[in-house]
Amino acid sequence: MANLKGHIFLIGFMGVGKTSTSKALSRILGVSDRDTDLMIVEKEGCSIAKIFEKKGEKYFRSLETGILDDIKNFKPCVISCGGGMVLREENIRKMKESGRIVLLSATPETIYSHVKGSQSRPLLNGNMNVPYIKKLMEERMPKYIAAADFVIETDGINPKEVASKIVDTYLKYIPK
Ligand code: S3P
Repeated sequence: MANLKGHIFLIGFMGVGKTSTSKALSRILGVSDRDTDLMIVEKEGCSIAKIFEKKGEKYFRSLETGILDDIKNFKPCVISCGGGMVLREENIRKMKESGRIVLLSATPETIYSHVKGSQSRPLLNGNMNVPYIKKLMEERMPKYIAAADFVIETDGINPKEVASKIVDTYLKYIPK
């Protein structure tokens, strides 16, 4: 699938594997990959955890919106989005204007197995358990589903396999 016409945005809950999948997908497609969290860290010169602590979640959400404006000018690439990117309608609109949105899904148990050792996600600090992940996921799911052009289930498969699934689905979804 050479010749990407727009970006491919990977959305989904924390720890679903967006970053590793975007690396695998960008390799298959021969395009570059970006990560909105990483772009924010580079721009602010400070970790996500520190941004939440010092400036609060609202400020972080505004940074996410600003990053989407920067991304608009990039050559088509694969973008791994922070798990809360869909929380602002404005962000969904901006993503739709510059590409397609792919939702990666997994069960709360799979998510927990991926994030349990991590200290870098402020929203899960003190909430590192399956019931909390399930609750937050259920709250967010309508937004994820509404934003997504298509959904890829990732339980039990590795990022490379997830990336291949995206390519197969994308080719069916986007007529040549
Ligand atoms: C968040 C997800 C994180 C990061 C921040 C907030 C969220 O990114 O943007 O901690 O609200 O779901 P990952 O989805 O890459 O963990």
